[in-house]
Amino acid sequence: MTQPTQCLSLPSEQDEDSSSQAVSSDFQNDVVAGLSQERKSIPCKYLYDQRGSQLFDAICRTPEYYPTRTEIALLNEHAQEIADLMGAGAHLIEFGSGSSLKVRILLDAAPGLASYVPVDISHDHLMQAAAAIAKDYPKLKVLPVTADFTQPSKLPDATRSGHKVGFFPGSTIGNFTGAEASAFLQNAAKLLGPGGGLLIGADLKKDPAILNAAYNDKAGVTSSFSLNLLRRINREIGGTFDPSRFQHEATYNAERGRIEIFLVSRDLQDVRVNGHTFNFESGERIHIENSHKYEIGEFQSLARRAGFSPQKAWVDDKNLFSVHYLEVTPL
Ligand code: AVJ
Repeated sequence: MTQPTQCLSLPSEQDEDSSSQAVSSDFQNDVVAGLSQERKSIPCKYLYDQRGSQLFDAICRTPEYYPTRTEIALLNEHAQEIADLMGAGAHLIEFGSGSSLKVRILLDAAPGLASYVPVDISHDHLMQAAAAIAKDYPKLKVLPVTADFTQPSKLPDATRSGHKVGFFPGSTIGNFTGAEASAFLQNAAKLLGPGGGLLIGADLKKDPAILNAAYNDKAGVTSSFSLNLLRRINREIGGTFDPSRFQHEATYNAERGRIEIFLVSRDLQDVRVNGHTFNFESGERIHIENSHKYEIGEFQSLARRAGFSPQKAWVDDKNLFSVHYLEVTPL
């Protein structure tokens, strides 16, 4: 089955990973294919190499980027209610678990979980994060699964008895188009099964000035994050990009309800990537990421169409971000 999007293999595919050969050749094929299109684009998952993941963490600390701190505040504020909705004895499955930091809020509030199953594509990072959780929660069964969570992956046998609750924070679902988000949710509903739940973060539509600021921080961290993609191409697949001749551009597309991020060529230039030459007009753009924003009702109808029954949505008092609890709709 094909991946519904190229954007969800978060977080990093680190340089040290044993899979780096295979990753590099996928990377090369995807970059060459993406830059050969009429409208140039590169899948956003390639933003998250080791340096990119560090820069993303730095984005989360900028004053303008509200999603991370708002979501953490919502999880903390409503942890008990969330734990009650998850129910006693659930298996908690995290999609794209990264460093497993946010989940600690849930683990603290729900001490009776049957297991914690972090799913992530970056094997080494996953094992480190799982070991840290196991050390800090000695009574918890931690069952890491190395997998791309956009593919229907098999869960450990130990999760067969008892119900399953998914956790998909960070508004990572925003990287998907509507159709891709729907495909992801349908897969999740199937994987979680009858009696299952899903706790998921989604960024809200809001004043475009707030959105544009969040993706164009004053200190230029987001710009460095975008431009790191060109450095990665140079480093890993023999690119000849001069990052100083490209500019980060992020703007809210109200019609599509999403932030769109591009790298814009500052002048007419040729760039080579492993034997291929790509010509850029002055002002020509490479599309590198989308970040979709959803009203509460909009997200709930998307969830309903994909096989979930919305139970509860929490929003902060500035209406910046939402956390939803959904239940798998019985067939
Ligand atoms: C990790 C996809 C949730 O869309 O807000 C932030 C990525 N890119 N700033 C987002 C991102 C530039 C982020 N997600």
